[in-house]
Amino acid sequence: MNTATPFSGAAHDGLNRGVAPVTYGQGDRPPRGDYGRAKSDYTCEQLHERYTETDHDTYRRLFARQRAQLPGLACEEFIDAVERLGSPDCIPSLAEISHRLKPVSGWELVAVPGLIPEEAFFALLAERRFPVTDWIRRPEEFDYVVEPDIFHDLFGHVPLLFNPLFADYMQAYGRGGLKASRLEACEQLARLYWYTVEFGLIDTPKGLRAYGAGILSSAGELMHSVRSPAPLRLPFDLERLMRSRYRIDSFQSTYFVIESFQQLFDATAQDFAPIYPRVRAVPDIEAGEVLPHEKVISLR
Ligand code: PHE
Ligand code: CO
Repeated sequence: MNTATPFSGAAHDGLNRGVAPVTYGQGDRPPRGDYGRAKSDYTCEQLHERYTETDHDTYRRLFARQRAQLPGLACEEFIDAVERLGSPDCIPSLAEISHRLKPVSGWELVAVPGLIPEEAFFALLAERRFPVTDWIRRPEEFDYVVEPDIFHDLFGHVPLLFNPLFADYMQAYGRGGLKASRLEACEQLARLYWYTVEFGLIDTPKGLRAYGAGILSSAGELMHSVRSPAPLRLPFDLERLMRSRYRIDSFQSTYFVIESFQQLFDATAQDFAPIYPRVRAVPDIEAGEVLPHEKVISLR
């Protein structure tokens, strides 16, 4: 899961609605999920035997639809790792995936009832524990679900946790989140998550590819983000990105492109404490807005 997330992609009306980062208690409805069984760190047990045949079937169909679209659109690191999620035919056991993941990158998966408060989220990431929502959308939500479910969290986020560098980035983000909370800069930091972990694109020798979980778990946005001439694509620039607002109710109109995971890791290693006030002193930039001097990346 995450705090920032979209869900599955194009709804019938073409929208890919999402929820904002920092979602707990936000909006007019309580988060979905049974929080009564969560511990104080918001983790809970994955009650695997409670999934119904319909649940497993929903997972199988989502997985098949998404996997078929990956070639040419998803980055290789993601494609290579997606098979490590185990059988695509039924909802996997998080413990089983952790068993394979931990020796590779030191991460484990923990179940959560749904969206959790941002501090709890940061704390889990800082401990290399990735929270995965344990419920799956209902069949009528196949194309659109308002909150991240187990399909988004697993299929979208977990493959790159097998990549050592990206795995380190996620932990650094968690630690950075705890620090941003103290500095009251969560909004700026959440934009970094949004435009990288959820909606990031990467330039590769074979062309643009997606690495963001929100894109990779979305039926419609994967093609849109990589191939559509409509959205703006800008080179990754930390402060530009922290100033950039985003839309949660449609496909993104701006994507940021990294050259490599190493670039992302290196660019975010510096101390953000002096950056936050600098970023907040200048105006935010709207989604889809280009500044006069900016060079956009065009499709090859
Ligand atoms: N370097 C950041 C800080 O000092 C922490 C961070 C690292 C945040 C990586 C996000 C990603 O706050
Ligand atoms: Co997410």
